[in-house]
Amino acid sequence: MTAFLIDSHCHLDLPHFDEDRDEVVARAREAGVIAMVTQGVDVASSRQAVALAERYAEVYAAVGIHPNDCTDFQPAMLDDIRALAAHPKVVTIGEIGLDDYWKTVPLDQQIRVLRLQLDLAAELGLPVVIHDRETHDLIMAELRAWVRDRLPGTPLARRPWPGVLHSFSGDLAMAQEAYDLGFVLGLAGPVTFKNARDLQALARQLDPRRLMLETDSPYLTPHPYRGKRNEPARVKLTAKKLAELWETPFAEVAEMTTATARKFFGLEADV
Ligand code: NI
Repeated sequence: MTAFLIDSHCHLDLPHFDEDRDEVVARAREAGVIAMVTQGVDVASSRQAVALAERYAEVYAAVGIHPNDCTDFQPAMLDDIRALAAHPKVVTIGEIGLDDYWKTVPLDQQIRVLRLQLDLAAELGLPVVIHDRETHDLIMAELRAWVRDRLPGTPLARRPWPGVLHSFSGDLAMAQEAYDLGFVLGLAGPVTFKNARDLQALARQLDPRRLMLETDSPYLTPHPYRGKRNEPARVKLTAKKLAELWETPFAEVAEMTTATARKFFGLEADV
């Protein structure tokens, strides 16, 4: 029996897939991936994400502006994101967040664009996909303030979870705080890396029912393909690693993470 998996985070619009996108989606389907959520990082890629969701039954879209792509942010871009979000296959606002690793955009600008999108997501009732790279304290402060002051009473407050910390890179205390704020966590290929002892130790302690699998394709390729292009079919390798870490049958890991992703994205009726 094939176990059904959901890749909660990938970037299928990128040119890395221009030569063989149909085959990549077909391979995912064959591997039991029943849904994959391709992320927008700006207005153009959000539009492409929606087009891909129209083209492939298994593909759903996230629309949003990535912290590293908000240099030229204009308020009108938020209207574009809002219009795209009306599409029935747009299931989340992402990928949004903060990034202090690449330092391409000043943090105050990133924070401004993040807050606007958090509030848009709340208004639209769509959960958020959060990118956090070397901004743990800052992102938690933003999410805490949002959940406490601006989320209550919005359509998003009626959903099971307001957001996911994608490719989680914090510690157990941060995971606990994210749970307290109502968030779920996403884990990608790095948990399979040979030298990822800390992340594996952390993964053992996470709540399996508050976790979604992801690839972040074409990036973060799991072991033993590290260094090669990643694709959604490989979400299976991360699921296998978690089965090993949790000492839980693979089918159960698939069942739990898929149930969480279905509920998170509101796909219960679809897949
Ligand atoms: Ni991503």
